Amino acid sequence: MKSILRFITCGSVDDGKSTLIGHMLYDAKLLFADQEEAIEAESRASNSEGILNYSLLLDGLMAEREQSITIDVAYRYFTTKNRSFIVADCPGHEQYTRNMVVGAAFADVAIILVDASKGISTQTRRHVRICVFMGIKHIVLAVNKMDIIHYDRKRFEEIRREFKHAINNCDLESFTIIPVSATEGDNLNKKSINTPWYKGKPLLTYLEKLNIEQSSANDVFLMPVQRVCRPAPNFRGYQGQIENGSISVGDEVFVLPGNERARISKLYVTNNKRKSAYIGQAVTICLDKEIDISRGSVLMKRNAAEFDDHFQATVIWLGDVPLMEGRNYFIKCGTMEQPAKVTRIYHKIEIDSGKNIYVSQVLKNEFAYCEIVLSQRMAFNYFKLNQSIGQFILIERLTNQTVGCGIIELPLHYSNNIMWQKTDITRAIRASQKGQKPCTVWFTGLSGSGKSTIANMVEKRLVAEGKHTMLLDGDNMRHGLCRDLGFVENDRSENVRRVAEVAKLLNDAGLIVLTAFISPYQRDRESAKQIIGDENYIEIYMSTPLEICERRDTKGLYEKAKKGDILYFTGISSSYEVPVNPNIEIDTSKCTLEESVEKIIKLINVKSI
Ligand code: ADX
Repeated sequence: MKSILRFITCGSVDDGKSTLIGHMLYDAKLLFADQEEAIEAESRASNSEGILNYSLLLDGLMAEREQSITIDVAYRYFTTKNRSFIVADCPGHEQYTRNMVVGAAFADVAIILVDASKGISTQTRRHVRICVFMGIKHIVLAVNKMDIIHYDRKRFEEIRREFKHAINNCDLESFTIIPVSATEGDNLNKKSINTPWYKGKPLLTYLEKLNIEQSSANDVFLMPVQRVCRPAPNFRGYQGQIENGSISVGDEVFVLPGNERARISKLYVTNNKRKSAYIGQAVTICLDKEIDISRGSVLMKRNAAEFDDHFQATVIWLGDVPLMEGRNYFIKCGTMEQPAKVTRIYHKIEIDSGKNIYVSQVLKNEFAYCEIVLSQRMAFNYFKLNQSIGQFILIERLTNQTVGCGIIELPLHYSNNIMWQKTDITRAIRASQKGQKPCTVWFTGLSGSGKSTIANMVEKRLVAEGKHTMLLDGDNMRHGLCRDLGFVENDRSENVRRVAEVAKLLNDAGLIVLTAFISPYQRDRESAKQIIGDENYIEIYMSTPLEICERRDTKGLYEKAKKGDILYFTGISSSYEVPVNPNIEIDTSKCTLEESVEKIIKLINVKSI
């Protein structure tokens, strides 16, 4: 079987990536007849001389053609007599870094294009960094538009020197530099007579001959157990999707956590009995002995993964909203997906100099070294040892957008040494002793919107009904547990996190909890809900308009904020994000306090019975 080489092309907008690949395929006669005709016809239509526009072949998307730029990752497959290729054509615009990262995660080789008349740019350096970061070990620098600089050897040598400098310290197995012209076809499929001084191979030959060794660690079998299947007393199968490598009947597997070993006795792919199965397949595995395995356990061919919930990683941030400490995201590592939190940003890494800079937030396209905590233990590994479970993406929970991607640098083993201590008196016992079902009523809204007042009235009513309660109020918490926090975004996130953790503990104690915090950010409220538990969380949005809150100005803070005496004041110099789906909305300028209290009590009574 011919080996497959997966490569990406990266370059700035006008560097000629699509033309390069298109021309290479055209010359190698790797196009279907109808594609060839289509290019010729379209080229005739777009310019009177009928000069072939090779990029038409690669530019698959309409919008891209209209704007004459590549806007998404386009994958193409082609085969020469020596090798098969898959190419991801990645966009060059800075705002499309995300697509480039996606392309780089899949590729063995990167062809980085530079315009010979412009040389190495910051963009080129960024592309090199991202490629190396995503584990690419082979880089080809295609110095394009050599025809424009009249095949000037001196200029080419200058670019070579600059490039060598740019890849200094990068962990690469090979790199080469080829002078090409994507439009003229120099050094694409055969050596060009215009560059007699170039002694290397033309691009396609180089790619055909390039030796890429896949690290064997990347092939280790790994399957997270998604379900334990017991249709009959004598059958116990572990179901999941093979995340990595392959497995056969008779093979020994390790089970994480616990590190016990067993052999595969039976193997099913969907419902069919098989001798072996490989990456991507959904399987049911039976073992030759009984081991304690449940959902979330991991089967591996050898013990080649960490099983933990905490690590340090380098992240490339891709979100429009900056990355900040304390924020919750979904993490996806292979097919495993779960909530995770970036608990610490150590520093960002400057692309050009590689210097570490201490920051509290990370902007789009920046690299940062962070600490990440998962909500459950998961199998992962150092990126250097295993790319497939050493790499992850972070997903914004509300929009479902990929906002970051990263590589695992260092597993942290705290959770291995910290166990959850079970107690005999459980949450359920504590709650039943009080004759109630605990929940947390989370009031959110501007300062002066009536949160504390109504929370206070609701608590009085509950106590009068014989309920056991606790009220956590913003101003009060900031006197003690949260006295070290201010009002910048990070601090508010941490404030809400602490309050949510306390509310959860109080719920565990059997109490009905009321909280009154501005809690201005949707993401933080989402995290609070997750900590407290969906089913125990009631959100009350105090939607009293800003003008009314300002007019009330019970604490005189709006006046101070408007004068600039208080910074980051919600509604004046800091934003408030309206809740997406609150259980109840109350505008105290429209309904009486008593009516509002009534509504809330009704809902609590429904939830807490
Ligand atoms: S939160 O945003 O982190 O949830 P929290 O509810 O704890 O805020 O605290 C808000 C209270 O702090 C307000 O009621 C007000 O009395 C006081 N405060 C002082 N400075 C600010 C500020 N810059 N923005 C908002 N509230 C402030």
